[in-house]
Amino acid sequence: KIVILDFGSQYTQLIARRVRELNVYCEIHPYHSIPEMDEGVKGVILSGSPYSVRDENAPVPDLSQFKGKLPLLGVCYGAQFLAQKFGGEVKPSNTREYGRANLSFIDRSNHLMTGVPEQSQVWMSHGDTIVNLPQNYSVIASTNDVSVAAFEVKGESTWGLQFHPEVFHSTDGKTILFNYIVSICGCSQNWTPNSFVASTVADLKNKLGDDKVVLGLSGGVDSTVAGVLLHKAIGDNLTCIFVDNGLLRKNEYQNVLDSYEHMGLNVIGVDAKKDFLDELAGVSDPETKRKIIGRVFIEVFDREAQKIQNVKWLAQGTIYPDVIESVSVNGPSATIKSHHNVGGLPEKMDLKVVEPLNLLFKDEVRRVGKAMGISPALLGRHPFPGPGLAIRILGDITEEKVEILQEVDHIFIQGLKDNDLYDEVWQAGVMLLPVQSVGVMGDERTYEKVVALRAVSSTDGMTADWVHLPYDFLAKVSNDIINKVKGVNRVVYDISSKPPATIEWE
Ligand code: XMP
Repeated sequence: KIVILDFGSQYTQLIARRVRELNVYCEIHPYHSIPEMDEGVKGVILSGSPYSVRDENAPVPDLSQFKGKLPLLGVCYGAQFLAQKFGGEVKPSNTREYGRANLSFIDRSNHLMTGVPEQSQVWMSHGDTIVNLPQNYSVIASTNDVSVAAFEVKGESTWGLQFHPEVFHSTDGKTILFNYIVSICGCSQNWTPNSFVASTVADLKNKLGDDKVVLGLSGGVDSTVAGVLLHKAIGDNLTCIFVDNGLLRKNEYQNVLDSYEHMGLNVIGVDAKKDFLDELAGVSDPETKRKIIGRVFIEVFDREAQKIQNVKWLAQGTIYPDVIESVSVNGPSATIKSHHNVGGLPEKMDLKVVEPLNLLFKDEVRRVGKAMGISPALLGRHPFPGPGLAIRILGDITEEKVEILQEVDHIFIQGLKDNDLYDEVWQAGVMLLPVQSVGVMGDERTYEKVVALRAVSSTDGMTADWVHLPYDFLAKVSNDIINKVKGVNRVVYDISSKPPATIEWE
C-alpha cells in the first residue's frame, strides 16, 4: 500500500482516488500522526497544503521513519518542504502561479518521467517557488516560468513535483503516478472490487463469528452495499431494520422493502410514520426538525433492535470520506447543517460497531455493489437526505403537505427517468414553499402553493451547479404538476449554484 500524508490540501483525497484507480490500496493520514511503516507500505506521498513552508506555523512532518528508506514523492507543499528542509530555498513567486502550464524541459531518462510527452500540460496551484535546490538534488522538469517543476534526490528514491499530478488538467499526471506507484514503489495492482469483497467477507467472518449484528437500512447505496456484504459473510445473523419515517418519497418504503427482500436480506420493516409526524407537529426550525428526526429514529431503532435476542454489533454504512481525519487549517469547519443525523446510536445501544465500507470512496462502493450483483437501478439512485421530505417542506410539516410533496416529487423524478435525464443529474428533488400565490383555473381565481424544482450536478455534494434541463421537459413537468396535484398552482426552477446557495433549501 501507499501512505499519503495530508497537509490539508483540498486535493489530498484526489491523490488517494488516483492511486485507487490504479487498483492500488492507499491510506490518508494526517502529517502529525504518521502510522508505523510496516512491510506493507511500499511508498509515501506528501500532499499539498494551504500553508507556505515559510509560514511560522507551517506543518512540519517527521520524515525519519521513511526518508531515504522508502520511495518518497512530495507534491506541491510536499516538494517545497523536501527542498527547503534539506538546504534549498523557497521564495514567494513574483506572480502567483495558478492553472495550466506546459513542461518545456523533461528529463525522460528519469524513472518518474518515463512516457511523459514534450510540452505536457500540468496544473499549478501555488504562491511559492523553489529557487534553489539542495546540492544533491537535480531538476527533472521545468516550465517557462517555473524552473523547478520537478526534481529528484540523487542516490535516493525521493522526488518532488511542483504541480499537481492528481488533477484532471495535468494531462499526464496518471502516467507520472503510475511510474511512481507501480514502477518505482512496486505496488501490485490487485485492489479490485472482487478482491475487496473476498477479503472483506473473510475478515467479517473472522471478526463476527456467530455473533448477531443489526444494521439500519435507508434505501441508499451505502447501507445497501454494507447489508449485502455482511449478509454474504454471516447470513441471517444479520438483521436489517428499515424505518418508514413518513418522510420518504412516494411508494419508496414498499418498493425498497420489496427489493431488499428480493435480495434475500433478513429485513424488518417498521412503520413509524406516526411517531415522527407527531413529534414534528408545529416545528418549523430546520435544525430542530433534524434533531427531532435523529432522536426519534434512535428511539424507534432501539425499540426494534431490543426485540432481537443477543445482538452484539451495530453495522453502519460509513464510507471513507466520513472518517478521514482531515487536517484542519482554519480551525474546525463551521457546522453549516447537522448532517450526522444518527450520531449517538452506538453509545445508546451499547453495541460494538462494524463498518465494512469505511475504507471506500463512493464510486468504489458502487463498484463493489456491482461486483456483488446489486441492481444498477439501486446503485444509481440519487442521494436522499436522512430527514427526507421534512427539510424540503419549508416551515411546519403536516401529513397533507407530505402527500402534496410526494405527488409533485414523483412527477418530477419519474419525468427525469422517462426522459433519460435521471442519470445526467446527481441529485434532484422538489421544495414545497411556505408561500401561496394567486392563479386562475377556468373561471376561478386560485390561491395555492408554490413548489420549486431542484436538479444539480456534483461529484460529492460539496459544490454543485444547477442542471440546464431542457425547457420542453420543464414545461411538461410544470404542466403535469399543476394539472394533477391539487393545492399547487405555480412551479419555479431553482437556478442557484452551491456555493453560495446549498442543494437543500433548509
Ligand atoms: P446541502 O443542502 O448542504 O446538501 O448543499 C448537501 C448534500 O447533503 C444532503 N443533506 C443531508 N443529508 N442529512 C443527510 O443525511 C441532512 O440533514 C442533510 N442535509 C442535506 C443533501 O441532500 C445533499 O445531498
